[in-house]
Amino acid sequence: SDKKIIFSGIQPSGELTLGNYLGAIKNWVKLQEEYESYFCVVDLHAITVRQVPKDLRARTLQVLAIYLASGIDPEKATLFIQSHVPAHCEAQWLLNCSTYMGELSRMTQFKDKSQKAGESIPVGLFTYPVLMAADILLYNTDLVPVGKDQMQHLELSRDLAERFNNLYSPTFKVPDGYIPKEGAKIMNLQDPAKKMSKSDENANSYILIMDPPDVIRKKISRAVTDTVGEINYTDEQPGIKNLINIISAITGESPESIVEKYNGCGYAQLKSDVAEIIVKELQPIQAKVNEYLSDKAYLEEIYKKGADKANYAATKTLRKMQKKIGL
Ligand code: ADP
Ligand code: NA
Repeated sequence: SDKKIIFSGIQPSGELTLGNYLGAIKNWVKLQEEYESYFCVVDLHAITVRQVPKDLRARTLQVLAIYLASGIDPEKATLFIQSHVPAHCEAQWLLNCSTYMGELSRMTQFKDKSQKAGESIPVGLFTYPVLMAADILLYNTDLVPVGKDQMQHLELSRDLAERFNNLYSPTFKVPDGYIPKEGAKIMNLQDPAKKMSKSDENANSYILIMDPPDVIRKKISRAVTDTVGEINYTDEQPGIKNLINIISAITGESPESIVEKYNGCGYAQLKSDVAEIIVKELQPIQAKVNEYLSDKAYLEEIYKKGADKANYAATKTLRKMQKKIGL
C-alpha cells in the first residue's frame, strides 16, 4: 500500500498507566486509520530490568488485551509481541557492529538507569537503543510516535540508519518522530513536575488503566494542587493544568473551554468530575480487557497472526541487511 508506516510499542515492565493510554494507545487508535501500523509489546526491552517470569508473561498478554480493548483493530494494524519475531535480535546484532560505544554512553536514559543499577549494569541496558533502532528500521517505518523522553533514542535510530545506508547502499528509510501535542503528556499526580510513570514507587502518583473506580476516585482526590484556589490553565498551577489536560485528552474539549466551564468552581468539584470522566472512559475498557484475558485462545490467535505478518516484513529487511554485509 502507499500508506505511510508507523511503529510503536510499550514495555510490559509494569501495569500500564493512564499516561500510557492517553499519551500513546488512544492516539494509536486514530493513527491506525491513516497509517500502516505496527503496534508491539516490547517484552525484550522489558528484560533489561529484572522481571519475574510469570509476571512478565501475564503482563505481556495484558498489554495485548489492553491494545485490543482500547480499540486497536487487528484487521487494520499489526499487533504483535516483540520476542515472537527473531529478526529484531538478529538485526540488532548487525546494527551493534556499526554502533559506537561513545554514542551509546551519551544516552541520558542509560546514564539514569545505570546509576540506579549500581555496579552490575546489564549490557542490555547499554544496547537497548540499538534494539529499538532494529524494531523501527525493520518495518521501513516512516513515523514513530514517541514521547519526548525517547527522542534521543530515535535520533540514534536515524543515525544508525544513515550510517548503514552510507556504509553499504540505501537500505533503510530514515524515520521521523511523531511527537504528540503537549496536552497529551500526563503528569505525576503527587509531583506534577514529573511525568506519570508506571515505574514510580508511589502508587498515588499514577492511575492504572486497570484501577477500580474507587481507587481512581481516591487517587484523584489526593492529587497535589496548589493554594491559588482558582482554576486556570497555566504552568504556575501544574497540578490543575494536569487535571485539565486529562479531561481534554479524554473528551477532546479544549483546555480553554474547560477553564471557562469551571469559572468560579472549587478544586473539589473539578477533581470529582475528572475522576468520573476517567472512570467512564476506563470502565468499558477494563471490562473488555477481562473478557479478552478469559479467552486465551483468541489472544493467541491474534498474536500469532500478528507475528506472521511482522515476521514477513521484518525478515525481508533482515535479508537485505545480511546480503549487503556479506553474510
Ligand atoms: P516504556 O514502556 O518504554 O517504559 P513508557 O511507559 O515510558 O515506556 O512509554 C510507553 C509509551 O507511553 C510511550 O509512547 C510514551 O510516550 C507513553 N507515555 C508513557 N507515560 C506517559 C505519560 N505520563 N504521558 C503521556 N504519554 C506517556
Ligand atoms: Na516507563
